[in-house]
Amino acid sequence: MGTEVDYAREIQELKRSMNAVILAHYYQESEVQDLADFVGDSLALAQAAAATKADVIVFCGVHFMAETAKILNPARQVLLPDLKAGCSLSDRCPPGAFKAFKEKHPGAFVVSYVNSSAAVKAMSDVIVTSSNAVKIVNQVPKDRQVLFAPDQHLGRYVMKQTGRDMVLWPGSCIVHEIFSEKRLVQLKVEHPEAEVVAHPECEAAVLRHADFIGSTKALLDYVLKSPKEKFIVVTEAGILHQMKKGAPDKTFIPAPPDNGCACNECPYMRLNTLEKLWRCMKDRTPELVMPEELREAARAPLQRMLEWSA
Ligand code: 13P
Ligand code: SF4
Repeated sequence: MGTEVDYAREIQELKRSMNAVILAHYYQESEVQDLADFVGDSLALAQAAAATKADVIVFCGVHFMAETAKILNPARQVLLPDLKAGCSLSDRCPPGAFKAFKEKHPGAFVVSYVNSSAAVKAMSDVIVTSSNAVKIVNQVPKDRQVLFAPDQHLGRYVMKQTGRDMVLWPGSCIVHEIFSEKRLVQLKVEHPEAEVVAHPECEAAVLRHADFIGSTKALLDYVLKSPKEKFIVVTEAGILHQMKKGAPDKTFIPAPPDNGCACNECPYMRLNTLEKLWRCMKDRTPELVMPEELREAARAPLQRMLEWSA
């Protein structure tokens, strides 16, 4: 009979002995979020990774997030509990096809969402996240054509907010694109007193029903501050953990996807588990490694993002 491992206790001990910091995204399972030193959206996590003095960054999120941490803080060892934790947006924008897309628009200013590979970032002028995309696109020189990749829905939302015309890469997120407008409207009828909050990766048909649109962190801040008591939340269901912790007396209803399930979870984010987190710290693998030339090329547009969003 195998002995039970107390993952939470062992992870805390490993964290101290390795001088590690655990960073987690809001879409991680609750147990992982509760063990993290910092839980945030992709911008806050990139800023935390850039600033940390810890020897090891244990990144509980998806591959592009851990890659961003390594690009911004190369002296640290970056561990990711499951290297297969990818992202549909990043996967649907292969560097070769992206290069061809760029070549069709010579002289354009290239804005890429952080949900992209290092190779795509390296071909971009500036990176954005969902929390700073509007602010950053507003700073792009007005005389330049803008290419935006890889999320067409975020791109369309940014176009609406900035009044800026952009050429969009036709990508989308497999989690946010399957929210059902019909089921959302039914929920609104059942709960007329609820406010709807949604992530800008959702389709425009869904976003038009939202009272507030923002990044995961912005949605969290909004529901905590709002005087309303009930919210329909249109993003990955992991964010509900921090919403319930921050406002235990409020009601949060996860918006349903169009696949018969009650709530919507990112299959990539959920590859990370408490057991894999413990194992990756104990064995110091899988580690995020990348060629220095690629890291340096991807650093400049990320650095520009941090400066433009300050
Ligand atoms: P945030 O930047 O809002 O955390 O979003 C990241 C993400 O992957 C959304 O699907
Ligand atoms: Fe990528 Fe969508 Fe998962 Fe976010 S929710 S990591 S965009 S697949």
